[in-house]
Amino acid sequence: MTNVHRLYFHYSEYPPSMRVLFTGTLLVLGLAYMFAMVQTYVSHAARDGSPGLSVEDLIIAYSGSKEDSRLEAALKGPMIDMIEPDDSARITVWIHDGASQDTYSETVQPILEDNCVGCHDGSNPHVPNLTKFDEVLKLTESDTGVSVYTLIRVSHIHLFGITFIFFIMGFIFTHALIRPVWLKCLVVGIPFLAIILDIGSWYLTKIHPGFAWVVYIGGICMAFSFAFMWVTTMYQMWFMRAPEDLVRDAD
Ligand code: HEC
Repeated sequence: MTNVHRLYFHYSEYPPSMRVLFTGTLLVLGLAYMFAMVQTYVSHAARDGSPGLSVEDLIIAYSGSKEDSRLEAALKGPMIDMIEPDDSARITVWIHDGASQDTYSETVQPILEDNCVGCHDGSNPHVPNLTKFDEVLKLTESDTGVSVYTLIRVSHIHLFGITFIFFIMGFIFTHALIRPVWLKCLVVGIPFLAIILDIGSWYLTKIHPGFAWVVYIGGICMAFSFAFMWVTTMYQMWFMRAPEDLVRDAD
């Protein structure tokens, strides 16, 4: 005898059209999640010079690299493919030699014009302007990580977006048959706790680098929870029948 809540329905009790709706939603959400992971990887991995996404990479992203300026951090990280290694090295040497205006005009400016100002022409307030010496000079000062302004912008997008994703995902998953019930509740609830801790820790990493671990673990918890709900749902929806002996409790 399998006891379930009176409002509970297993996927197999739903009409085919709803199962198609759930499946389509899951397929596109899964694809979106993969793109999000690739995006996270591409924008943060290898900031510390070694391949892969590590806690050290997150510390550099959020609290800054103690050694590198923002310009150097970008050249080693997200902008690495925009420039030839030789030119990148010339810019690094210029920064380490004190970032003089003369060398800038002779060597650095032409490199930036050829490789960077296509995007960094000052027209987008969120992308640093690389057409003026003064602006470029600011980027050569020591790196303090993503600005709080950028974090606020990204936070609100993530909080809204992730809530939608995990509400839809979790809502579909509530129709799975999982025992014990607390485990099911945990899988549904964890992503919401994780996103709050994760985003809070972006800011806290600026104060103490140890919080990068919370960002890292928060991200892993969300991914695991997502994968668990996705696989369970797909399996139970198409390959499992509801137990014959379902008994709906009155409460
Ligand atoms: C194809 C467009 C494009 C090109 C080419 C490009 N960038 Fe960027 N760059 C961006 C965008 C978009 C951002 C902001 C994205 C972000 O915040 O991650 C950015 C961010 C940056 C940042 C700020 C990173 C930070 O600390 O937040 C620096 C510095 C930078 N780029 C330097 C360069 C340099 C130097 C070059 C040339 C070698 C270059 N970029 C070429 C698009 C480009």
